Amino acid sequence: MLQGRRILLVIGGGIAAYKSLDLIRRLRERGATVRPILTESAQEFITPLSAAALCGEPAHTDLFDRNLETEIGHIRLARDADAIVVAPATANLMARMAGGHADDLATTVLLATTLPILIAPAMNVRMWQHPATQRNLAALTRDGVMVIGPNEGAMAEAEWGPGRLAEPLEIVAAVEGLLARPPSPQGGEEQVLAGRRVLVTSGPTHEPIDPVRYIANRSSGRQGHAIAAAAAAAGAEVTLVSGPVSVPDPAGVRVVRVETAREMLAAVEAALPADIAIFAAAVADWRAAGEAEQKLKKDGGEPPPLRLALNPDILATVARRGEGRPPLVVGFAAETERVVEHAKAKLARKGCDLIVANDVSPATGIMGGADNAVHLVMKDGVESWPSLDKEEVARRLVNRLARMRPQTP
Ligand code: CTP
Repeated sequence: MLQGRRILLVIGGGIAAYKSLDLIRRLRERGATVRPILTESAQEFITPLSAAALCGEPAHTDLFDRNLETEIGHIRLARDADAIVVAPATANLMARMAGGHADDLATTVLLATTLPILIAPAMNVRMWQHPATQRNLAALTRDGVMVIGPNEGAMAEAEWGPGRLAEPLEIVAAVEGLLARPPSPQGGEEQVLAGRRVLVTSGPTHEPIDPVRYIANRSSGRQGHAIAAAAAAAGAEVTLVSGPVSVPDPAGVRVVRVETAREMLAAVEAALPADIAIFAAAVADWRAAGEAEQKLKKDGGEPPPLRLALNPDILATVARRGEGRPPLVVGFAAETERVVEHAKAKLARKGCDLIVANDVSPATGIMGGADNAVHLVMKDGVESWPSLDKEEVARRLVNRLARMRPQTP
C-alpha cells in the first residue's frame, strides 16, 4: 500500500516527538520513503541527526537553508511528495497552520502545498479541549486536512484524557487512507458526499450512579466510528459525537466526546445543521434518578435501591424537529427477536427516514464484534444485506444514503 510512496513528515515539538521516530520506521517498513522536517521546538526533543539516520534522508530544519535554496527549497519540498504528515501536531503548530502562517520551514511548506495533509495532534488535555484549539481543528478539517487522534490515556503531566499522540500504526493506517482518497474532492466515485454535512453518534453512554459507578452497555463504537470514517472518505464534513470508547478517532472527522445521554443530546444539537444525521450510538435508555454526590457505602445494611429516570431520546428529538431537521435521519435498531418487525415499528415511532436494524442476540456476536448483518428498513421497503465487516457496512451505507433523496418531514 505504501510501497514507493513519498511522505514528507513534519515533526512538531512535544514530548511525543520521540514517537515520530518509530513512525518513520513503520512507514519505511511498508516501502515508503520519508523526508523529515523538524520545527525548532522539535529539536528540543529529538535531533535532526536521529530523524535523518532513520529516514536515510537529510533532515530539514531551516527556511533559509543554503543548500536547499539552490533547488528552490521549500517549494520543492512541498511538491516532491505524495502526502504530508504532521506528527506530533502541537497546539501551536495547529494554530499556525489554521492561521495560514509561514514563519518557518514547516509552516511555509504546509502553506505552499496542495498535497493531502494528515495531522496527528498531541498536547496537554486542557490545551486540546481549549475552544481555540477546537476552533483551529474545525478550520483545518474544513480546509481538507485529515486528523488522526489524539487518543485518550495517561499524559506526561500525570493527567488523564484526550491528548496522546495516536499510535504509530494508527497513523500509518490513516496515511494509507489518505493516499487512497481520490486527489480532488470533486472527482472520483468515492466523493459521493462532497460538500455535505454529516452528523454521527457512536458508542455507549455512561450514566453515573455515584462518583465511581455507572450504568453502561457493551457497544464498542466500531460501527458508528466506521460510518463517520466512511462519510469523511466520501468527502463529507463529519462531526462524530461519541460516548466513551476505546476505538481510535477516525481520520478527518471532528470528534466531540461525551459521557451521558443528556450530554450527547446537547452535543448533537450544537453540531446541527446537518444534511444527514446517523444515530448509531447505543444510548442508555435510563439513567440513575438523582446521582449520588458521594460514593454509596455498603454500611452492612440493605443494598440501596436503584431508581431510574428516562433519558431523552436523541434520535426522536432530532427526527421530530420542525425547523432544522436534517433532510435524512437514520436510526439504528438493536433487536434480539423479530428484528424487521420491531424496526418497522421503531421507524414510525421515532419519525426517522431509515432504520439500520441488526440482530444483537448473543449468538450473533455482533455487539462488540467485527461483523454486522443488517436490514435497511424504510417506509417503502426493506433491504437485507449479507454479513459484512463493519467497515464494509459503513461504506455501503454511506453510498446508499448519498443516493437517497432527502425526505420531507
Ligand atoms: N436512541 C437515541 N437516544 C436514546 C435511545 C436511542 O438516540 N435515548 C437511538 C439510537 O442511537 C438508535 C435508536 O435510537 O439509533 C435505537 O433505539 P433503541 O434504544 O433500540 O430503541 P427503543 O425505542 O429504546 O426500543 P427498544 O425498547 O425496542 O429497545
